[in-house]
Amino acid sequence: MRKLIIAGNWKMHGTRTSVQALLTDLTKQLIVSDSVEMIVFPPFVFLEQAQRLLEGSAIKWGAQNIAAEQSGAFTGEISATMISDFACQYTLIGHSERRSLYGEVDDMVAKKFMLAKQARLTPVLCVGETLIEREKGLTQQVVSRQLGAILQLAGGAENLSQAILAYEPVWAIGTGLTATPEQAQEIHAMLRQQVAQLNPTIAQQLRILYGGSVKVANAKALFSMPDIDGGLVGGASLDAQEFLQIYYSAQAK
Ligand code: PGA
Repeated sequence: MRKLIIAGNWKMHGTRTSVQALLTDLTKQLIVSDSVEMIVFPPFVFLEQAQRLLEGSAIKWGAQNIAAEQSGAFTGEISATMISDFACQYTLIGHSERRSLYGEVDDMVAKKFMLAKQARLTPVLCVGETLIEREKGLTQQVVSRQLGAILQLAGGAENLSQAILAYEPVWAIGTGLTATPEQAQEIHAMLRQQVAQLNPTIAQQLRILYGGSVKVANAKALFSMPDIDGGLVGGASLDAQEFLQIYYSAQAK
């Protein structure tokens, strides 16, 4: 059985005060389940606060991005080893907003993935198609290319053994539109199959999260699908009660 994950991608939201309130509510109110993990992804500047408030709790934390270089003259960038210094265990890699707004192409995403692994972080690799790509029938081709770029640079599936995948259709992110459980399941199964061709054991263990307007109202139906192993939650992760309810709906699987 794969342990489910409910992850909160806070994006560029929060203040010291709101972070304090949100993390205090989560740590005080979370009724921990053995079958579901909770991870939050605050902006970099709140990682120290997250470490202070979450250390010793069941909630893990990570960064939303890392630099494509290890260190050096890269003004404004933050490296994988720097975030490890704040006891992060995870980092998002290749989120669609990084790809579409900051020009992160497959090669750069693959490089970041490997740097995360080298720093002993668990990368959460995000893949997903745009609306135009879906309408043109290119969904499978696009997500399989995005995953393929990692498999190629990593030289096989072994590097996915300590990694997480997230399927996030771009048209569903922050739009209120959600893929139906069946639409999401189809792509999750395809991604797992792509890994299984290289290594069936790793494919079976790989957690594949769904992201894109996950809310309490649709969480249970999505998580009930056989290849959906939890959610990467944006907007709804900023509200402690909503996020906790999403976590509890994963427990029912
Ligand atoms: P959303 O974002 O839940 O607000 O759609 C998901 C994400 O971008 O990870």
